[in-house]
Amino acid sequence: MDEPTPPTYHRMPRELTLPTGEVLRPFGPADLDQLVAVVNDNLERLRPWMPWAQQPVTAESQGEFLAGSLRNWADGTDFVYGVFAGDAIVGGTGLHTRRGPGVLEIGYWLAAAAEGRGLVTAATRVLAEVAASYDEVAEVVICCDEANVRSAAVPRRLGFRLAGVEAVEPKAAGETGWHQVWTLPTAVIRAGWTA
Ligand SMILES: CC(C)(COP(=O)(O)OP(=O)(O)OC[C@H]1O[C@@H](n2cnc3c(N)ncnc32)[C@H](O)[C@@H]1OP(=O)(O)O)[C@@H](O)C(=O)NCCC(=O)NCCS
Repeated sequence: MDEPTPPTYHRMPRELTLPTGEVLRPFGPADLDQLVAVVNDNLERLRPWMPWAQQPVTAESQGEFLAGSLRNWADGTDFVYGVFAGDAIVGGTGLHTRRGPGVLEIGYWLAAAAEGRGLVTAATRVLAEVAASYDEVAEVVICCDEANVRSAAVPRRLGFRLAGVEAVEPKAAGETGWHQVWTLPTAVIRAGWTA
């Protein structure tokens, strides 16, 4: 059977500033060397949870990732953002269409030095507000393995509800294969985050 056509979104903001000054923007070719270094420096922390971080990344593998993510930006089908503190990459996040029409999923990772300051919670809040600015988006979703307690704390902190647990094929070293699905209706966001 053919894969369903992913929904497309236009006018997705290309730069978003967090209250503490860090900037979300698409990774570009000029970020390649730094991205390779940051991912490899953080590999042991990322490997349990990120399928793309199971082995050291290379300029070639990350170059393909960057080219693909820029194509997706141009097509309006997927939106990866780097998290930048000045010129320094401190993490990655994104709005993903893979759960089909009406839903945008948020993913994230941070470099060790940027953890524990609320950066990803703030970025998720900003991206959820972007998602809610599209009339056709009814729900924002965050998925994480049930063993990834630190990841689950992000949607919990923002008032997402644990809607269910899905069995998936584990793709990263620490995954149990039970993925929590956290959801927040965009109506809640449009009403000022009051459930
Ligand atoms: C998941 C991950 C991004 C969470 O990082 P994090 O630093 O815990 O998340 P935040 O940036 O939102 O910071 C929250 C922490 O900052 C603290 N904090 C400080 N100021 C804060 C603020 N203004 N707002 C919210 N939290 C704040 C919180 O108390 C919390 O710390 P605690 O866990 O010690 O209580 C990170 O652990 C990571 O990169 N893990 C590896 C990759 C991964 O698992 N990705 C997700 C796959 S599903």
